[in-house]
Amino acid sequence: MKYHKLVENAAKPNGFWGKMMIKSMNKNHSSLTDWGLEHIQIELGSKVLDIGCGGGQTVSKLCNMVGNGKVCGIDYSELCVKKSQKLNSKSILCGKANIKQASVSSLPFDDNCFDIVTAVETFYFWPDKPNDLKEIMRVLKSGGKLLMIFEMLRSDDDPFKWERVEKMLGIKAVDENEIAQLLEDCGYVNVKTYTQSGTSWLCAIAEKPKEQI
Ligand SMILES: C[S@@+](CC[C@H](N)C(=O)[O-])C[C@H]1O[C@@H](n2cnc3c(N)ncnc32)[C@H](O)[C@@H]1O
Repeated sequence: MKYHKLVENAAKPNGFWGKMMIKSMNKNHSSLTDWGLEHIQIELGSKVLDIGCGGGQTVSKLCNMVGNGKVCGIDYSELCVKKSQKLNSKSILCGKANIKQASVSSLPFDDNCFDIVTAVETFYFWPDKPNDLKEIMRVLKSGGKLLMIFEMLRSDDDPFKWERVEKMLGIKAVDENEIAQLLEDCGYVNVKTYTQSGTSWLCAIAEKPKEQI
């Protein structure tokens, strides 16, 4: 019962079980997120967007990495926006962070405004993945990078590992080659993927092509 209520709230946290899920995500995604962030260089002064920011822990980590840069977070769950705002209240007060309620499918930002976009454990839930990836490309600067981090990697060693969660949430664990191919099909370049032995973690990094002058 408890497990079901918690897992159901991974897609769009709401109410009591949503609050419990947010607590659990902030705790359980921390080392996965740190590992994923190790694969990308974040320059001081960067402008970064975290999509599906959940309880706001990634926004907080990013705020500590960008120096005098800026970090925005978006999530379509009202509860997540409130919790992220609470966790990052100091950074919001000093104008470093900004958290908005929005869907990945329609980002409330101008074209070409972010150096980096991150998305931790959220891709599975997006309604129209190819178009959502193109929407992210719209807000990335030329040469900007998308970093996606996953805990649910499908592997031949244990193909049914995620079956229960997949059925409960109507989502699919990701395949390393399929993710890379999808990113390329959506127009991203320099696509790289990384896995961590002994885990089912995957991190994918892709670049918006640089404008030809
Ligand atoms: C499993 S949680 C991960 C949260 C956070 N990134 C973390 O690692 O703890 C997935 C998050 O993605 C958000 N999400 C799912 N679909 C979304 C969409 N279409 N647009 C924006 N946020 C979405 C959910 O509300 C939820 O907060």
